[in-house]
Amino acid sequence: MENISPALLDWFYKNHRILPFRTDPSPYHVWLSEIMLQQTRVSAALPYYERFLAALPDIPALAVCEEEKLHKLWEGLGYYSRVRNLQKAARIVCEQYGGQLPADYDALRALPGIGDYTAGAVASISFGIPVPAVDGNVLRVFSRLYNDPAAVTEPAVKKAFTARVMEHQPPDAPGDYNQALMELGALVCVPNGAPLCEKCPLAHLCAARAAGTALELPRKAAPKPRRLQPVTLALLESPAGFLLQQRPQKGLLAGLWQPVLWEGEALAAGEVLARLQAMGVDTGTAAPEALPAAKHIFSHIEWHMNGILLHVPAQDAPAGCVWASREALQAEYTLPGAFKAYRKLII
Ligand code: ADE
Repeated sequence: MENISPALLDWFYKNHRILPFRTDPSPYHVWLSEIMLQQTRVSAALPYYERFLAALPDIPALAVCEEEKLHKLWEGLGYYSRVRNLQKAARIVCEQYGGQLPADYDALRALPGIGDYTAGAVASISFGIPVPAVDGNVLRVFSRLYNDPAAVTEPAVKKAFTARVMEHQPPDAPGDYNQALMELGALVCVPNGAPLCEKCPLAHLCAARAAGTALELPRKAAPKPRRLQPVTLALLESPAGFLLQQRPQKGLLAGLWQPVLWEGEALAAGEVLARLQAMGVDTGTAAPEALPAAKHIFSHIEWHMNGILLHVPAQDAPAGCVWASREALQAEYTLPGAFKAYRKLII
């Protein structure tokens, strides 16, 4: 196949979106944007990006940010391990590299939360290093360009596609080339529905367009089924507010706040009251009200939530818990999106 980069770059320079991390592609900006964009659309991520940088304008500021504030800046984006890893990496960057990301692919790749893709994006876009940055957009573009039905979810296939991506990369513009592929995938060679081939600068080279197979590509292996987990919540309200419990510092939703709950167990109201009393909670005399059932999908687990709302007398919070007023919940504590169904009862 002829080299795609002249037509692709010409299209990119005329058609790309003006985005803040393109206007000022410092390594910190590109890093932050790529981490945010991993699970979030550009339009949804932009307000978070601006607010995050206003609060934490450089890597040293990120390194010392207090945990609750950091979670609050990420509230609504989900996948909080991303922001925890950002801070872990920022601390290493301050200790080992004087607060500046290293201009080296392997050194970037070694930082927490930075995989092949993010290391490639920062190295190529910010430092002009000729390395690949292959995300889902790029895999889709190449599976169609070559009309290749291999499953892009397989590591060996991704490796082979990456080699093709590099065959076309111009050594003097690796960052623009990588971004142009992503942009083509985001704006033209779109997922979920017909690609806009009439707008594509590579249409004349595209094997899937010639074969009429674009809608069937890329092929992916069936994902592993998610584990279903029952969860029982106890939403307790006292004159001091709602009782929140901090999750452990490791694992799912690490360090975030939640109503008291039991994972992996569907408990009847009577059992919930008994467990609360065993924690030292004065459950009072009001009758528990049933909370609406709700579901939340994580990448590997699905929570099926039920529970009770209970009005209790004023009292001290049990160990690991706090009474949070509505105001404190707005300003201070981050309640993960998993509890969205209950948020309106609380805030
Ligand atoms: N999606 C993730 N990163 C991107 C980037 N740099 N440009 C366009 N879309 C993206």
